[in-house]
Amino acid sequence: MHFETIAQWQTELTTAIGAADSGAELEALRIRALGRNGLIHDIMGAIKTAPPGDRRAWGQAANAWKQAVQTALDARQADLARPRAAPADFDVTLPGYWRGLGSRHPVSQLIERAVGIFRRLGFTVAEGPEIETVHNNFDALNTPESHPSRDQQDTFYLADGQLLRCHTSPVQVRHMQAHQPPVRIVAPGRCYRRDTADATHSANFHQIEGLYVAERVSLADLKGDLAFFARALLGPDVKTRLRPHFFPFTEPSVEVDFSCHVCGGQGCRVCKQSGWIEIAGAGMVDPNVFRAVGYDPEAVTGYAFGLGIERMAMILYGIPDIRLLYDNDVRFLSQFGV
Ligand code: PHE
Repeated sequence: MHFETIAQWQTELTTAIGAADSGAELEALRIRALGRNGLIHDIMGAIKTAPPGDRRAWGQAANAWKQAVQTALDARQADLARPRAAPADFDVTLPGYWRGLGSRHPVSQLIERAVGIFRRLGFTVAEGPEIETVHNNFDALNTPESHPSRDQQDTFYLADGQLLRCHTSPVQVRHMQAHQPPVRIVAPGRCYRRDTADATHSANFHQIEGLYVAERVSLADLKGDLAFFARALLGPDVKTRLRPHFFPFTEPSVEVDFSCHVCGGQGCRVCKQSGWIEIAGAGMVDPNVFRAVGYDPEAVTGYAFGLGIERMAMILYGIPDIRLLYDNDVRFLSQFGV
């Protein structure tokens, strides 16, 4: 006997079982396959006559065979046990079975909402790949060789020398290389960092990159647009504040805080008593970035920002631990059903 033979028997049997129309038919098939004189008997016989070195493999094949046939039998049995209305009795006016509606993941919902707000300010959506070149992720963004974010410890490098983007900023580079100014885009997407997971860190997370380049764009435009965004998302009372910071690709650079949505700025656990929550990095596009993409830094200026989506989801919905967003626990996710 060959291995092929038992595979063939298995195919024939499972097809026949799937088509069996009655318990009696099913029982006949069971006896033919697994009964005392059934096919399994022949297979077991083959094990005894197989060369000693092959017996183990035969034994495993026989077990797998038995299991597959039994599984098919059980499944068909369950099928047949289910009540089937005769077509003549079928009442088409009865309500159907309600199997429940799924819902969009809170991260996806928030991306959609945020993008919708920026559309009102004239932004369009751009996208870029999650696997990026070192050039787009770092070099063209004016990030020096020695910058810590380039470290193997912080960024996932691939065997071919590319990397998993650690921010959505490379989409700025791609977009400016392909389009002449003025440009006004948002780019939502997934990012990767070699962070150890805890309540506020995850090795992958989402950002929305924003880029607005034209003649005479200023920091006031940045602040105005982000304040508009904050109010549209969190309500008319939310305040926006810029703090000086450093990013290699913007000059000047800022970190952007929104007043805490949970306590209204009074100070609470979510904002660590400060009344503010850091929501984005931003700044005026560095002239070196313009040069890297072939723009004339004398002719245009621009602002850029990178918003943390999970951050926003956590304050908006009061989610205490970022990992809840990735556990895929339906009890958690169904609370965001719309
Ligand atoms: N890329 C920065 C980060 O991930 C955020 C940022 C985007 C800062 C655009 C300035 C301008 O931290």
